[in-house]
Amino acid sequence: MQRDPLPSNAALMARRHAAVPRGVGQAHPIFIAHGRNAEFWDVEGRRYVDFAGGIAVLNTGHCHPEVIAAVKAQLERYTHTCFQVVAYEPYVELAERLNALAPGAVLKKTLLLSTGAEAVENAVKIARAHTGRPGIIAFTGGYHGRTVMTLGLTGKIAPYKTGFGPFPGEVFHARFPNALHGVSVADALQSVESILKNDIEAERVAAFIVEPVQGEGGFYVAPHEFVEGLKKIADRHGILLIADEVQTGAGRTGTWFACEQWPVAPDLITTAKSLAGGFPISAVVGRADVMDAPAPGGLGGTYAGSPVGCAAALAVLRVFEDEQLLERSRVVGARLTDALHRLARDHKTIGDVRGLGAMVAIELFEDGTHTPDAELTRRIVAEAAKRGLILLSCGTHGNVIRILVPLTASDALLDEGLSILAASFTAVH
Ligand SMILES: Cc1ncc(COP(=O)(O)O)c(C=O)c1O
Repeated sequence: MQRDPLPSNAALMARRHAAVPRGVGQAHPIFIAHGRNAEFWDVEGRRYVDFAGGIAVLNTGHCHPEVIAAVKAQLERYTHTCFQVVAYEPYVELAERLNALAPGAVLKKTLLLSTGAEAVENAVKIARAHTGRPGIIAFTGGYHGRTVMTLGLTGKIAPYKTGFGPFPGEVFHARFPNALHGVSVADALQSVESILKNDIEAERVAAFIVEPVQGEGGFYVAPHEFVEGLKKIADRHGILLIADEVQTGAGRTGTWFACEQWPVAPDLITTAKSLAGGFPISAVVGRADVMDAPAPGGLGGTYAGSPVGCAAALAVLRVFEDEQLLERSRVVGARLTDALHRLARDHKTIGDVRGLGAMVAIELFEDGTHTPDAELTRRIVAEAAKRGLILLSCGTHGNVIRILVPLTASDALLDEGLSILAASFTAVH
């Protein structure tokens, strides 16, 4: 039997504009038909190399066969009970696995949820319950989600926060260290001290929340001296340290959690995105004594830690072992970084190449200056898409191109994507 042809991207875009609010952004006017590993095909049959991975969700690629098999098997058994009503082993097993992976020589416990923002919300609840304090200090340029509390923590207004306030009180923003833009580690730590002096007394602060590498903010890596300094301030005042690893976690940076590379261990870690290879699940992993602070019934959610998400996440962990993806993450990172440095030699608009493991970005400036070039960034991303490469921009000034390609991508596919990127630079300049 002949199948009806799929509608065109343009026809679907028209229906989308009529049916979906404009507030939901869309980086590319493309509708997927099917995807495999680091490639996908749109409804018109065009092939794309995927360097975006659904914003850091596809470290194991589109539809990894092991993940799909585990999900199918789970679907045949049961799909939902609500863990708070009738429990299931995959939740407990995933918690055990994440507890073992989190750094720090103390007992850990794990709470499972559905989205990154929900994990951050719950980390704040747990930190407050443990310390009995209300205050949270986040960082400029940080991104923590789209719920009202996580928007409050997010350190960039447009487009995330515009028109959505008021946000919860007792949230303050210190400066994130950013040598490229003139914020030293000393400046950043000083700004934390100044909040504790001018805005909220240390005895009322529950936690600092920081991304090991700012994701939406522009792929700026938190220097080790900064993390060490922050932990010293935290320890001095009984403040907890939360590592928001929603974007950095699940092997992206060369270790399962980026904070494994820190000189100090955080008290709580939030993780989501690539954890379940394309299925919604998130977690708060942390010190058992802290995690046990909320009273029974204080944590949970109808779909929190869904059996399907747990099965997918356990499969992702197996794939990481079988395919040695942590090692691969470091190799992919080095291959991307080398190629981007070569590209930067030919194009002076590339002012910086940076990253951690396979979380890699370039920052674009107007030729020969230090003025962020968001327009050039937008044009390169659009040109690359026309040529079959899906990229994402990010950064406070919208002038950063980030790469979040699946770690399962072959060297040949990485090189194909990189050569499309180079051709896009040549075409646009
Ligand atoms: C560091 C960080 N925290 C939290 C979130 C929110 O995650 P979600 O979109 O799954 O709610 C994100 C999403 O990009 C993120 O990068």
